Amino acid sequence: MVKKFKSVNEKVKGFLHGGDYNPDQWLDYPEVLNEDVRLLKLAHCNCVSINIFGWSAIEPHEGEYTFEWLDKVMDDMASAGVHVILSTPSGARPAWMSEKYPEVLRVWSDRNRILHGQRHNHCFTSPIYREKTSKINKILAERYKNHPALIMWHVSNEYGGECHCELCQEAFRNWLKVKYDNDLEKLNKAWWTGFWSHKFTSWSQIESPAHHGEEFVHGHNLDWKRFATYQTIDFYKNEIAPLKEITPNILVTTNFMGDYPRECVFNGLDYWKFAKEVDVVSWDNYPAWHNNFEKLYDTAANTGFVHDVYRTLKGGQPFLIMESTPSLVNWHKVNRGKRPGMHLLSSLQGVAHGADSVQYFQWRKGRGASEKFHGSVVDHCGHENTRVFKEVTEVGEVLEKLSEIIGTSVEPEVAVIYDWENRWAIDDCQALKNENKGYFEAIEDYYKVFWRKGIPVDVINMDCDFSKYKLVVAPMLYMIRPGVAERLTQFVKIGGTLVTTYFSGLVDENDLCFLGGFPGPLREVTGIWAEEIDTLYDTDINYLEFKEGNELGVNGTYKLRDYCDVIHAETAEVLATYKNDYYDGMPALTVNNYGNGKAYYVAARTNNDFDTAFFSNIINNLKIKSVINTELPLGVTAQMRTDGENDYIFIMNFNEEGKSVILDEQKYFDMLVNKEVSGNLELKKYDVKVLKRKTKN
Ligand code: GLA
Ligand code: ZN
Repeated sequence: MVKKFKSVNEKVKGFLHGGDYNPDQWLDYPEVLNEDVRLLKLAHCNCVSINIFGWSAIEPHEGEYTFEWLDKVMDDMASAGVHVILSTPSGARPAWMSEKYPEVLRVWSDRNRILHGQRHNHCFTSPIYREKTSKINKILAERYKNHPALIMWHVSNEYGGECHCELCQEAFRNWLKVKYDNDLEKLNKAWWTGFWSHKFTSWSQIESPAHHGEEFVHGHNLDWKRFATYQTIDFYKNEIAPLKEITPNILVTTNFMGDYPRECVFNGLDYWKFAKEVDVVSWDNYPAWHNNFEKLYDTAANTGFVHDVYRTLKGGQPFLIMESTPSLVNWHKVNRGKRPGMHLLSSLQGVAHGADSVQYFQWRKGRGASEKFHGSVVDHCGHENTRVFKEVTEVGEVLEKLSEIIGTSVEPEVAVIYDWENRWAIDDCQALKNENKGYFEAIEDYYKVFWRKGIPVDVINMDCDFSKYKLVVAPMLYMIRPGVAERLTQFVKIGGTLVTTYFSGLVDENDLCFLGGFPGPLREVTGIWAEEIDTLYDTDINYLEFKEGNELGVNGTYKLRDYCDVIHAETAEVLATYKNDYYDGMPALTVNNYGNGKAYYVAARTNNDFDTAFFSNIINNLKIKSVINTELPLGVTAQMRTDGENDYIFIMNFNEEGKSVILDEQKYFDMLVNKEVSGNLELKKYDVKVLKRKTKN
């Protein structure tokens, strides 16, 4: 049976293609606005996000509204058959508001209040800001609730950052009181405040972390970050309340962010918590394509990872690419444009990982201010005869050919754990290589092995259900929240395979170390005791050497770097040992056969040669499937979406030269050129093929 997720709105029949549109900056240029309608159609765009920073254009003075321009844009879009994702304007405030109500302005951790300016810098606690956003959202919802162009709400823009004002301090204390049952002693214990005489005797002594104040109590830092997530979501809930009330059938999203320079997820908010409150996950995708610090295919793998996070956040439901650039951005260190062909490839990469849209920032370049040189579909020349416009049009045409793919899913057998709180705690602790402990790199290295083999991966956090996976990979699982070790142990007991590493099982949810031997509550399932951890200088040399005849079936010696856990096998079997130093001959890799499953402990940080050899064997032993049964050249990946009857295989070449792939025996239909294909598939530089085949049941 064909199985599909519903589209974001019943009016939406294919992929959304379009992007952030700022007619509010062009109100003096009616001819430009008319031209936009023509150009949107020409570029095969069917969706715009408007009003993102429109507040001063709809409420130029307090309580005075000027919606006429927005009415006209909405109507023009409806007549042109272009959908509108309508934004609430809280991403930027009008000047009159900051002037009259300074409490809406954020306070930095140094306790200085900002001046009016820029954007994304409001106090999320301020009752006035909450009242103002709620009011304007209510008016918007009332005005456009039945508008035929409206398909979805885009709430604010890229929520992030923290405010340290007095209102936020009080809210933090109240949040702590709830968390610690009004019992200050509980908090003192959780934060280990006996350290440096930091014990609190009254709630009012507690402040948010600051350079010139407290920043060395890790439980405190963690709780502040948790509070920042909580308070941001609380503000967001206040924003959506009128939308949910007035337009209960219009779905709500807010655009999540990536990270730069190496593509990762935004670190500031725990998106697992946020995702529960949005109807659809969307994110802004700006990798540094063609950079000089990593291979193109590594940029692609990291980007694939982020797409996978955003798909997994809502249980595999398709997500939206809310923004991406058709060419270049203006805020990277070097703003290199996408080379010809990369736009289609990078757009379809998102689709391959589960996106149901390709949206841009921005539709048209503004004339002034800081984003005037940021890539856009329409350049300052104002017409369609540009390379970028043509490449965007091509994406639009291709998406139309692929419209049956929307709503389909990705079904991984492998999960990698990437956990925000774990990252916060690792980054914050003073240990290992202090400048960069490399949590993300550890995950990225392992993820790449699967990406290169065309094996889909879910990126989960430690609270997710493990039972649907054959393999769960949990590098540097430093923090173990309550119940997690029990669930991982159970997962292995009933036949799952777990891979964890050095620096796992050290602290609980408050960053308090487990007593009685590491990896703490993972000790039973891993069958090892980690006695100490050695950090290596880049010049230090050690190796992991496989034991002959080990059950994994890998041989040889592999170079190590960064970290070596000095461990003892308890119930685990030793597969490989160290070759140097005082732990020469001690276990470097173990497996614990536990119940019906296995738990591997990789005690040291390895390199790609080991990672590939190690995981290839696990993949074979567990019969984990690549989406296509063939050897993929380096830099070529394959991803798959499926509706249960048809599989859609995306084969993508992230190389600067052509490559070929030999198709397996199944029947493939190339959806972009409309013909059957078999045998040798030639891929040009940056080529992407979308092949359809019958699902094997
Ligand atoms: C973010 C914002 C946009 C724009 C782009 C530029 O994603 O949401 O408003 O500033 O960056 O890349
Ligand atoms: Zn504040």
